[in-house]
Amino acid sequence: MFNEIFPETTCESTTFVIFGVTGDLTRRKLIPAIYELAMNNRLPAKFNIVGFARRDWTNEKLIAVLREGIDQFAHRQPVDPGVVEKILESAVYIQSDFNELTGYEKIANVLNEQCAKNVIFYLATPPDAYRNIIEQIGNSHLNHIENGWVRIVIEKPYGRDIESATQLDDIVHSVFEENQIFRIDHYLGKETVQNILVFRFANGIFEPLWNNHYVDHVQITVAEKNGVGTRAGYYETAGVIRDMFQNHLLQLLSLTAMEAPVAFNDKSVRDEKGKVLRSLRPWKASDALVNTYRAQYASGSIDGQRVAGYKDEDGVAANSTTETYMAARLFVDNWRWAGVPFYIRSGKRLPAFLTEIAIHFKQVPLPLFNWHNMAGDAPNVLVLNLQPNEGIKLTFGAKLPGPVNQIAPAEMEFNYQQAFGGNPPEAYVRLLQDCMAGDATLFTRSDEVTAAWSFTTSILDAWNENPAKNLPVYEAGTWGPPGADEFIRTTGRKWREPVIKN
Ligand code: BG6
Repeated sequence: MFNEIFPETTCESTTFVIFGVTGDLTRRKLIPAIYELAMNNRLPAKFNIVGFARRDWTNEKLIAVLREGIDQFAHRQPVDPGVVEKILESAVYIQSDFNELTGYEKIANVLNEQCAKNVIFYLATPPDAYRNIIEQIGNSHLNHIENGWVRIVIEKPYGRDIESATQLDDIVHSVFEENQIFRIDHYLGKETVQNILVFRFANGIFEPLWNNHYVDHVQITVAEKNGVGTRAGYYETAGVIRDMFQNHLLQLLSLTAMEAPVAFNDKSVRDEKGKVLRSLRPWKASDALVNTYRAQYASGSIDGQRVAGYKDEDGVAANSTTETYMAARLFVDNWRWAGVPFYIRSGKRLPAFLTEIAIHFKQVPLPLFNWHNMAGDAPNVLVLNLQPNEGIKLTFGAKLPGPVNQIAPAEMEFNYQQAFGGNPPEAYVRLLQDCMAGDATLFTRSDEVTAAWSFTTSILDAWNENPAKNLPVYEAGTWGPPGADEFIRTTGRKWREPVIKN
């Protein structure tokens, strides 16, 4: 349709079509990110927004909601009414079911009227709408523009196991080429996550130590104070394994463990990340059960406030066995990491909002100092603090000044805010900018998603076959049940006690 009307386009504008525009994501993340890009002169000169959803809204209503989103959530810059006007003045709302072809004809008409050269389709809908939308984009020939580009951004969850993820991927590939597909994992848009590669590969100091000769084990923690909030309907079908482990945690693992890419571009970086995911030691059900631990929060207190247990949250079944905490011990079976356990944990209603990667180095080959050692057994830990308090800290043992021979823990610390000032930008700003530039380095590729789901499904299968009869519970505001400590202790390690500053 679109291409038939404008086979030889001289058009210039870029149109951002948001499916499911009435949802929270647009207000909270997308429109503030677009606003920030506009403020930094990083939007194309001609840029239009088209919102598509089922609700009975008008253009005016859409513009009002988007404006409110900017006022409420674009915190980094003062609101400039002129810029807001410029982004929103041409915004168009299309009301339609996701499977109605006429809705896509309306999109084609709007694109023609706007003389669009480049189009981003953004799927901000519940995942059950993905199939219809993608197929109808294909049926309407909106997947390609002569002399321009069309890209599709797909939010998580990208499937719920290996089978559904592969099916979804087949549908997406039946309409789009892989280089048009931008699968979002918002963790990759975080500055500190991007800095993992800079830290490792722009410095000569650490990389020689980054292997099984020097590293004893790695701990990756993604802790949240929040509970399930208003998302119980989704979370009940997901649990922490689908919500965090399959995507964010495995992405952090692959950036931590990957080899140096041949070049810093989307192909080379994603080639290396994919290899890590494919090197994860495959598990039989019995391995998966031994190497994972799951639990659910009970009521407790966070920052001095009483909070409800998971089963008492709105929309959660009274007998729910959905896990809100999981820990796992993974092995990356390649030459660099053979024998080094990667301990991973994530949970809701933990005592802190904190994401960190801790590299625990091996101890000296022979203890030399027969002194009182207050630094503990393994003082050499390098911690990448991804959020909040973004920074990097190296701990080591130092001689305590004085006549008594003692070793005390000491630290070298880098803090983003102190070093560079300001808060790191929102992940979505960078991701939308990269999508418009056609740079997919910070988006996940088909083979990565497949490898991550393949591994995750082995855990899901084991858990399904062996339902947690008495799923351990932990009091909200604690670092998990005693079993979580036992889980790591049985393999001779212990969880780091993160320093909580928030
Ligand atoms: C999302 C999950 O992907 O990430 C949420 O669906 C989680 O459950 C969120 O709270 C955490 O993101 P961040 O950026 O706050 O660490």
